[in-house]
Amino acid sequence: MHRFHRRGRGLVVLASVALTLPLTAALSPAAAASPADPTAPATSTSAPYALVPQPVSQRAVPGAGFTLTPRTRIAVLSKDAAAQGVGSYLAKLLAPATGYDLKVVRKTQAPDKALVLDPGGPASLGAEGYTIASGRNGVVVTAHGAQGLFRGVQTLRQLLPAAVESRTEQSRTWTVAPAEISDAPRYEYRGVMLDVARRFFPVEQVKRYIDEAAAYKINKLHLHLTDDQGWRIAVDALPDLTEVGASTQSGFTGGTDWYYTAADYKEIVSYAASRFMTVVPEIDGPGHTMSALASVPELNCDDRARAPYSGFDVGISLYCLKDSQHQDATKNFLQTVVDAVARLTPGPYLHLGGDETPQATRGEYDAYVKAAADATTAKKKTVMGWHQLGQSPLPAGSLLQYWGEDSDRETIGTASEKPGITHLRQGVAQGAKYVMSPSDHAYLDMKYDASTPYGLSWSGYVPVQRSYAWDPETVTGKLDGTGAVVPAGQIAGVEAALWADRAYEGSSELPTPGTRWPSPQDYADYMSFPRLPALAEVGWTPQSGRDWTGFRQRLAQHGQRWTAAGIGFHPAPGVPWPGTVRTVEGEHVIVTGDVDGVALENAGSTSDGTDLVLWAPNRGPKQTWTVSPQSDGTYTMTNKSSGKCAEASGGAVGATVVQRTCDTGRTGQHWKFTARPNDDRYTIAAVGGLVLTAGSATNGAKATLEPDTGSALQTWTVD
Ligand code: ACM
Repeated sequence: MHRFHRRGRGLVVLASVALTLPLTAALSPAAAASPADPTAPATSTSAPYALVPQPVSQRAVPGAGFTLTPRTRIAVLSKDAAAQGVGSYLAKLLAPATGYDLKVVRKTQAPDKALVLDPGGPASLGAEGYTIASGRNGVVVTAHGAQGLFRGVQTLRQLLPAAVESRTEQSRTWTVAPAEISDAPRYEYRGVMLDVARRFFPVEQVKRYIDEAAAYKINKLHLHLTDDQGWRIAVDALPDLTEVGASTQSGFTGGTDWYYTAADYKEIVSYAASRFMTVVPEIDGPGHTMSALASVPELNCDDRARAPYSGFDVGISLYCLKDSQHQDATKNFLQTVVDAVARLTPGPYLHLGGDETPQATRGEYDAYVKAAADATTAKKKTVMGWHQLGQSPLPAGSLLQYWGEDSDRETIGTASEKPGITHLRQGVAQGAKYVMSPSDHAYLDMKYDASTPYGLSWSGYVPVQRSYAWDPETVTGKLDGTGAVVPAGQIAGVEAALWADRAYEGSSELPTPGTRWPSPQDYADYMSFPRLPALAEVGWTPQSGRDWTGFRQRLAQHGQRWTAAGIGFHPAPGVPWPGTVRTVEGEHVIVTGDVDGVALENAGSTSDGTDLVLWAPNRGPKQTWTVSPQSDGTYTMTNKSSGKCAEASGGAVGATVVQRTCDTGRTGQHWKFTARPNDDRYTIAAVGGLVLTAGSATNGAKATLEPDTGSALQTWTVD
């Protein structure tokens, strides 16, 4: 299915729809949610507890769980400092909500009635694998080293009631659900990217985000430190980079401290390390470099510094690589910057960007990649970059990040393969490994739907289901999943990317002086939750252990955790959030239940008798229906655009559904909504019992009446 418009990242796209959603409408309904125990057994026997990411295996154990008391000990079966550190971390994690100051003790054998952390498990668990055995007599988390313990502790906290995430003391019992869990990640690289260049995130907000992401077993923090709109890392030898280059953000000028000092950056790195998360710094180039061009004159062909940039465009800058003098200047600059950043970065990677450089010739691009890669390998760091980097010669062991989308995949194997696919092939042939960040699944700045106040939609809308329902092994293949360009053995993992070039309300238009800008933290919370946990599960859980229907049920339980933790999440459509009143009465968009779900709409006609059709959801008036209860238990559906009612055109199989002037005396306008078991979707039946069916998930398909087969084209989300 064709999806919306596609452009390069951040190109100004002025949509005609004015967004008016007040932020208050986005506040969590879970605040008023029932006190349901999120660890209560769910319906599926394979997933007794609402754990995200879903562990490789889990089993509910009969009997009571282990109830914490103020005297419970956290026993670490090792003197290893890192393992002891995980014990202290767990004590601190539990302290605010429980009010308990649990002692961490060093033991050689697992005591009873304790939270036991044993880093002496078999090597077969791998660096991040763990097991949990929890029952009446205590809880034992076993791993092969401290990192696996830390991942296991993230699961352990999900076996406690949601209130454990509260930052204030809650008076209640704290019982760890009884379970046997065995787990290890699908991929080693599970990242999240923050675009601190377009919108500067103060250190405290970065640390908070690290904690939010670590709870879902994310282990890489990619900081997009430089772009046209700002240079965010101090380099001693080049003070203008931060004095001039950090004075702007997208939409802001005049800053004096919108960057990380060496001490700030070290603080972020060490906080991340305490959460077993590796920082991946990105110095983007040769495009996305206006902040550098504004700070270092000799990077420009005329040796004159550019003006600092605070706008919203993309593709506006390039290091001067036209002659050997300027190539040398760029090389020296990159060496200085890479030396400084590498010195501050204990992790193995240095991300060199390489995206969106339409003005660069092949030779210029190659010159940048060689200079940046040489500087990186000289510091014994691994080159990372966006997938375009694959077109140039790369050092062995490089890691590339795929950010293409369905429109690229559509061209695979045709005579007109998109350049992105060619670059992917070139990188694969060089043996590079890949981190998957397909923009139409993994870009957290894409709007959930047309009503999302922030972000962009050049890669389509990314509702929660789209962020979840994809497979890294097929996402570089054709749309039918075959012909993956990146073979499974060259996939390192998955990264969610939170760009921030449109981090304001009403972002489909350029901002005005009256525009409301959320804090970076509020923007990050809203765009990342619930999609970051969805992407975390894509990176962690084996494909065979994942399905959208089960995931949305598990995810729904996490809303209460985020509310308790103060995370301003978006209770996005498609997830059955507890506490959300289940009623079909009111104004709704009515969408089929598959990943590329299509919405019932009236095709823009105001005449009686026109067939209703299906179209990609945009939440516009043509797709908005007022569902009104009738005395016989059925409902009428009135279209907002035409004011007409949905009506069965006949009683035979295959009859179309039309719109007609509302008249409750016409039985064809009476629709019976039936909630499906264990689901928050509906079948919608005409009076004779045939059900409303989308002819296909293609724009323009007709709505007809068919026997109920339970197909996704007959199950409707009433949002
Ligand atoms: C990108 O979105 N330009 C990597």
